Amino acid sequence: MKVCCIGAGYVGGPTCAVMALKCPDITITLVDKSAERIAQWNSEKLPIYEPGLDEVVKKCRNVNLFFSTDIATAIKEADLIFISVNTPTKTCGSGKGRAADLKYVESAARMIAEIAQSNKIVVEKSTVPVRAAESIMHILRANQKPGIHYDILSNPEFLAEGTAINDLLNADRVLIGGEETPEGHQAVEKLSWIYEHWIPKKNILTTNTWSSELSKLAANAFLAQRISSINSLSAVCEATGADVSEVARAVGLDSRIGSKFLQASVGFGGSCFQKDILNLIYICENLNLPEVAAYWQQVIDMNDYQKRRFSQKIIESLFNTVSDKRIAILGFAFKKNTGDTRETAAITVCQTLLEEGAKLDIYDPKVEPEQIIDDLTHPSVTESPENVKKAVQIHSDPYSAVRATHALVLCTEWDEFVDLDYKRIYQSMMKPAYIFDGRKILDHERLQQIGFHVQTIGKKYQRAGLLRSWGIVPQL
Ligand code: UDX
Ligand code: UDX
Ligand code: ADP
Repeated sequence: MKVCCIGAGYVGGPTCAVMALKCPDITITLVDKSAERIAQWNSEKLPIYEPGLDEVVKKCRNVNLFFSTDIATAIKEADLIFISVNTPTKTCGSGKGRAADLKYVESAARMIAEIAQSNKIVVEKSTVPVRAAESIMHILRANQKPGIHYDILSNPEFLAEGTAINDLLNADRVLIGGEETPEGHQAVEKLSWIYEHWIPKKNILTTNTWSSELSKLAANAFLAQRISSINSLSAVCEATGADVSEVARAVGLDSRIGSKFLQASVGFGGSCFQKDILNLIYICENLNLPEVAAYWQQVIDMNDYQKRRFSQKIIESLFNTVSDKRIAILGFAFKKNTGDTRETAAITVCQTLLEEGAKLDIYDPKVEPEQIIDDLTHPSVTESPENVKKAVQIHSDPYSAVRATHALVLCTEWDEFVDLDYKRIYQSMMKPAYIFDGRKILDHERLQQIGFHVQTIGKKYQRAGLLRSWGIVPQL
């Protein structure tokens, strides 16, 4: 069998790599319109950072996994084509800011229709609105050449960045939606056969196409909702003296609720959660279900509130002014173990501090410096990119980032931040020295003993100075 995948990004790349690893009898060609991206996939430095991905790509590349810009040949030769192009939120026109922009999916479908000379199974892997498969089908059938048959399947990807390889190798489930016709069933069987190379058949779920499309949006909406739920309680904790970690633990031990995805934070980010919920909201509004739309909108509103609340807390703690103060930002990616910054909470935090006149010293172990500058100078973030460039310095080392700063703001939960030498950091900072832990990963008691003023999410700390006056904090 020959497989082609259109779109060599965060989804297409790892998915095809693992598929190639597990299916030596299948040839997979991953194509992209970006020649630069394909060149990177063919080089020593892959275009995305994902733990374990390098090894898998090295094993399969040019054996049964190929990266190419020759989209036409790959489509022509393939029996089965995955579409894994990006589906960003629309930035103009009707549905602006909410609806998914399907222009890349549509252009991929048109290309298939134009080039195909034999039967194809077309699989939508990108997250799309419910009934998108129908649109793809319309395009393909309207341009169908005689004797060519198309089957459209929905096969949403549930991998999370940072753990993509493990998620793909040990997927909780694989979901395949297809048409309820004999041809549709056959197409589902063919795709299922690929996954059966490594996923137990009982974990391969088949549904109708619409259920499959909606399940992907629903799964992301549920996950995001849990984070907004615990984040809403973090505000209550800070106001009352409860500790959100204790609350999350107590709640999560109820087996009906479960303990995962209850980590209060500065706010969720990533390319999927916000986009998919906005998409769900847009669909609900179009289906005249305003109550449902309002319900899910609240998950996004709570996330925005959390990001704002954390940023405001930094400013208030620093005597209500950060103008010309140096502030270190540790972590810029939307979560650890990825270099991806899409929708990262760090952008909101930096934007707020920059608007207040702060100077930022930013360090992230994997995000490229140009990416940080691009994000912070984007027209949606600032009207004066030149001023932002002057106010931001990117560092390749955390100790250089924190030197002579008034505060350290931790935005991403990278493991390496836990083990930094905080005594050394304290000594190199301005006093009073503040730490704002947006991920709740640091040892706050120890930091207070060193002399830091510590603020975090969902727990109120006494000021270090106050503790010291009680003789609790040893002097350095
Ligand atoms: C609830 C909590 O489960 C329990 O831990 C707490 O101590 C008291 O409140 P209870 O109200 O007795 O217990 O019953 P529960 O099984 O939680 O059901 C509550 C309502 O939710 C019922 O009307 C039930 O029919 C409904 N429900 C429950 C659903 O509609 N769907 C579900 O999936 C589960
Ligand atoms: C998510 C889904 O998990 C995945 O199934 C889907 O295919 C794509 O979207 P991803 O966005 O890559 O994956 O990462 P995820 O681990 O879900 O984290 C999303 C955001 O939520 C991150 O910013 C993360 O830091 C945050 N988060 C996660 C929390 O703040 N608290 C938590 O308890 C969990
Ligand atoms: P995701 O996180 O969904 O994988 P990415 O932006 O990382 O999204 O990747 C999507 C990829 O799809 C990009 O590399 C983009 O160049 C590619 N792409 C978009 N439209 C097309 C198209 N019509 N043909 C080929 N590649 C495309």
